[in-house]
Amino acid sequence: MQLFDVYPLFDITPVRAEGAYVYDAEGTRYLDLYGGHAVISIGHSHPHYVQAIHDQIGRIGFYSNSVKVPQQMELATRLGRMSGYDDYQLFLCNSGAEANENAIKLASFHTGRKRVVAFRGSFHGRTAAALNMTDDPKLSAPVNMDNFPVTYVALNDPEALSAALSGDDVCAVIVEGIQGVGGLGSPSDDFLRLLESECKASGALLILDEIQSGHGRTGKFFAHQQAGIRPDIITIAKGMGNGFPVAGVIISPAVRPKHGMLGTTFGGSHLACAAAIAVLDVLESEQLMAHVAEVGARFKAALEAIPQVVAVKGRGLMLGAEFAFPAKEVRTRLLMEHHIFTGASSNPNQIRILPPLNISWQQLEHFIHALETVLR
Ligand SMILES: Cc1ncc(COP(=O)(O)O)c(C=O)c1O
Repeated sequence: MQLFDVYPLFDITPVRAEGAYVYDAEGTRYLDLYGGHAVISIGHSHPHYVQAIHDQIGRIGFYSNSVKVPQQMELATRLGRMSGYDDYQLFLCNSGAEANENAIKLASFHTGRKRVVAFRGSFHGRTAAALNMTDDPKLSAPVNMDNFPVTYVALNDPEALSAALSGDDVCAVIVEGIQGVGGLGSPSDDFLRLLESECKASGALLILDEIQSGHGRTGKFFAHQQAGIRPDIITIAKGMGNGFPVAGVIISPAVRPKHGMLGTTFGGSHLACAAAIAVLDVLESEQLMAHVAEVGARFKAALEAIPQVVAVKGRGLMLGAEFAFPAKEVRTRLLMEHHIFTGASSNPNQIRILPPLNISWQQLEHFIHALETVLR
């Protein structure tokens, strides 16, 4: 059998990884400024994380959601405390798209409405509803396109938002804390506050997709916390499991659960919870959010000081550096000549930087020097 060939691949085969480094079979060391697509939060193969998963699988890895799984409760309690959402509820699933799919169903169940407001440049995943809220028609199959009531508005456009919310038929507004795939555009703090109040006024739920921007990546637990708002629903994935597939929907107490309303076979397994709890342990014990806030600001300033960099978007360790020319060759040379992974976005002139949150300032400085060399 062949693999279904949907990914363009670099000719690199990592066999081991540690901290912010990835190694191939020949021992070549790569600096990971991409975090496996914003997934690696506490660093590759963190010893506490490895031990926690190892210990858990030795006891019980999985049963089903028809029995009590105390690790789910422990995760919910820890997550609530660390993120400031103690009074909210947690539904566990397996991927970002699935989290958004469940979030939108909840909003529709709760309001009895159908229409969704999403934003230009958005990416929310590749399942049915998530794709219909994603502003990239190329990703949709004919089966995705019909009859899904969605209105796209530009980020930070108050008039367009008011117009989109004017009927009484909107179940939810969904917005990324910082846009990832879309090129690091952010809702401004004022716009987030407006979103919160307009959603309340119209009876729609506000869903914050923090799948990429959450779990400390911007220096706060969630990017939206910069604006001091409290959305109705928050979706999480990527950094939550540091590579173990685990995702969640964080739900306001106003949304009441009913048996059978949502469900999943694999979501919230003992093993997934052990991985997610270990991530929270390390975020806390190594004070990674404070570290991100500190090195992120220094790093952004250092990128802005490079003459060929025309703009730096994003916050913390979720940044996009933009040039006045296509970034493809810069990324390829960083990888092939300097052994540094970076990411791309839908903006062809931008490189996306999403390192593990415990990357050191020296490692970031090494990247800056390599980037300057390539640009010269
Ligand atoms: C903001 C955002 N939402 C949702 C998703 C989808 O997550 P997954 O690939 O785990 O389904 C992604 C993935 O890149 C994302 O960046």
